[in-house]
Amino acid sequence: MGYKTIIEDDIDILVAGAGLGGTGAAFEARYWGQNKKIVIAEKANIDRSGAVAQGLYAINCYMGTRFGENNPEDHVRYARIDLMGMVREDLAFDMARHVDSAVHQFEEWGLPIMINEKKDKVGGKHPYMREGRWQIMIHGESYKPIVAEAARKSADKIFNRICVTHLLMDEAKENRVAGAVGFNVRTGNYHVFKSKTVICGAGGASNIFKPRSVGEGAGRVWYAPWSSGSAYGLMIEAGAKMTQMENRIVLARFKDGYGPVGAYFLHLKTYTQNAYGEEYESKWFPALQEMVGKEYLDPEVSHRTHRPIPTCLRNHAIINEVNAGRGPIHMVTMEAFQDPHLEEIGWHNFLGMTVGQAVLWAATDVDPKYENPELTTSEPYVMGSHATGCGAWCSGPEDVSPDEYFWGYNRMTTVEGLFGAGDAVGGTPHAFSSGSFTEGRLAAKAACKYIDDGKAEGIKVSDAQIQRRKEEIYKPMETYTVGRNEIVAGTVNPNYINPRQGLDRLQKLMDEYCGGFGVNYMTNDKLLKIGLKKMAILGEDLEKVAASDVHELLRAWELKHRFLTSESVFHHTLFRKETRWPGYYYRGDAMKLDDQNWHVLTVSRRDPKTGEYTMEKAPLYHLVGDVEKKPAEEH
Ligand code: ADX
Repeated sequence: MGYKTIIEDDIDILVAGAGLGGTGAAFEARYWGQNKKIVIAEKANIDRSGAVAQGLYAINCYMGTRFGENNPEDHVRYARIDLMGMVREDLAFDMARHVDSAVHQFEEWGLPIMINEKKDKVGGKHPYMREGRWQIMIHGESYKPIVAEAARKSADKIFNRICVTHLLMDEAKENRVAGAVGFNVRTGNYHVFKSKTVICGAGGASNIFKPRSVGEGAGRVWYAPWSSGSAYGLMIEAGAKMTQMENRIVLARFKDGYGPVGAYFLHLKTYTQNAYGEEYESKWFPALQEMVGKEYLDPEVSHRTHRPIPTCLRNHAIINEVNAGRGPIHMVTMEAFQDPHLEEIGWHNFLGMTVGQAVLWAATDVDPKYENPELTTSEPYVMGSHATGCGAWCSGPEDVSPDEYFWGYNRMTTVEGLFGAGDAVGGTPHAFSSGSFTEGRLAAKAACKYIDDGKAEGIKVSDAQIQRRKEEIYKPMETYTVGRNEIVAGTVNPNYINPRQGLDRLQKLMDEYCGGFGVNYMTNDKLLKIGLKKMAILGEDLEKVAASDVHELLRAWELKHRFLTSESVFHHTLFRKETRWPGYYYRGDAMKLDDQNWHVLTVSRRDPKTGEYTMEKAPLYHLVGDVEKKPAEEH
């Protein structure tokens, strides 16, 4: 195709994807690896990439230990309860004990964090303004550029506009990473990065389940539309073990704009009602308690201890109330918005992170001061940093992790030299932006040690591997060039499908067979098996995806990453024969939570040679006790 091959050699640490996780990795790698060669490869531009690109109005993970607010153990308990018990507590604790220092750095670098002057100073500083117990409020439209600057100053080289498509594998030692390859989405050039380690921070997945938004609104989704599951696609393809991939997340959101609800619920103290102005949540709790057991849902205990009802269970109430014919669900904003200060915060909240919701309300004449806006549940997303824990099965830190969770280097996947950060790491929900950055730091420190321990010696990558990947990457353009004259109508061609057609097919499959919104999040073993059969055929057809230009080539590779992510979700959902997270999805053939058989983490591996999946159960250790040292105060 005439595209140049550009080889970057002798890299020590390659950061593949630099959202919050990757920027944290680049920053910390410089500290522990003064003389190491650190390179970033990023699909967009690190100044505005990843899920935080458009800004945030809150940092949802901050302990405030310095102000006597919370301990890391408290956060592990919170995440554990919210995820119906399923957390890698070693990783969650490790993140929580370091996250505050990351937030303090953000402030030093210029991120405006709101201060609560009504609270007494501690160590000469007023505590930050809290949105809720774990969340602090920021003026964060420029959050990402501010944090990216630290990565820019740390890395030796940054390659923006590179879509990383595959990891390179070492040919001297099996199951060891050797770098990555991809192409420039503007010039089309082929880029090869030979590296001793790779820290994968390429993000979670939106747009794999059919979205509620269609037509002109199709780009409007909750998670970043450019989050193509590449973190998962890259790692799965390389044979890394994955965990909790069934644990997709469904969000209760303002309808059509996907505007966030956290600040409204927690700070503005808004609440929900059904169409007839009634409280409905508690009505669903007795039956739900039958499904999940009292230890997972006890509204009385939640109320007394100020612990939120798990996110999925709150969704369950909305889904069922709407199914009972009493929708839509409304967010009661009319009371809070009478207070001009809260009204301003309500609008600021959107302007700082989801401008589209403010625009939509303005365009559709919704004024939350005079009308309670509609809430709805979103299509599912596959990611690992919000209230869910999809991702790679990674080693934990040496001082905390039990044997089954530890194989030498913190945040290293089961592929040697391949580390994860942010959405890439499984079993670590509630990290959010600050926790993802922190994970990147932890991964980079461990990657430096891995190199210093001599674990990356003797890596061999043949020209044949580089050439084979090159042919594979540009094949969609070849397919297009060869077949384009046989178009029968519009974009329909008997020889190929284009990326949009492939994505539509994937989304429909995921929706109907894997528990999307279109089937009320319901699936069962039969549906999943049919879905997997159809996935296999789609997989064959994706060999014939066609790209008319470099932009479509990007879409083709995003689709392939989304496909691998989806296939993994299917296998995990089939494996876990219970309904662990009602409100995220339901197994109609196993509607109860089953602690006797499924109080475990699920782990999968796709054989890179055969594409076959193997599934196993991994122990779920509770490393943090149940009882808080000090009772939670209301914030
Ligand atoms: S955001 O990341 O898109 O802003 P969201 O608005 O759902 O997410 O939530 C922000 C934070 O508030 C998260 O930590 C979330 O878990 C928490 N949160 C949202 N709604 C509630 C609620 N009703 N009760 C307790 N915590 C909540």
